[in-house]
Amino acid sequence: MKVFMFAASLRHGSYNKKLIRVAAESVMALPFCEVELHEFNEFPLPMYDADLESTEGIPVGALSLGKMISDADAVIISSPEYNGSIPGTFKNAIDWLSRIKPVPLSKKQILLIGASPGHLGGVRGNLHARVPLHILGSYVYPEYFGLAKADQAFDQNDQIKDEKQFEKLQTLLTDFIHYASRKETPFERLTE
Ligand code: FNR
Repeated sequence: MKVFMFAASLRHGSYNKKLIRVAAESVMALPFCEVELHEFNEFPLPMYDADLESTEGIPVGALSLGKMISDADAVIISSPEYNGSIPGTFKNAIDWLSRIKPVPLSKKQILLIGASPGHLGGVRGNLHARVPLHILGSYVYPEYFGLAKADQAFDQNDQIKDEKQFEKLQTLLTDFIHYASRKETPFERLTE
């Protein structure tokens, strides 16, 4: 199965970029998984403006991001938390994606993870990310992995230092991939 992965941060030294790279290595090692790891910076987007959309159409960055999502069987996103929510850049990308028909995020299996130098690991941002994704009909996996104290969490090789945290991440990734590979809707899963 094809898994598209990116960190919703533009920052060069981003902890979320480090986390998504670690996660991508784990997913690549799983059987039948083909990983498409990309940088959010590859999809530059102007701020959403309906006038811009009606004069110039949907920007190439949104169309490329939308294609990556549409072509994937599952999507894994590591997002920073900004002011208890998601970065405006990430919300802006979701808004542009919602203008593509069919909406690439609709019925898409998505796993959210995140890293933050704070002690909550970005869990409040993760809750906010769920709202627009839910509105667009994404199947967002209920569990979350948040890497707290991310400024101290990586070793010199950008691996997660704490073995328990790394195992927790690996278990979540394995469970998610197993779930997503069955291509079920959450409803079908409940009625098993
Ligand atoms: C932050 N940061 C932050 N962290 C957090 O845990 N909770 C928060 O609410 C916020 N709010 C916030 C707002 C703004 C505007 C900035 C710039 C930063 C800190 C944030 O987690 C930190 O900058 C991370 O390094 C961002 O993620 P990347 O870019 O390292 O992936």
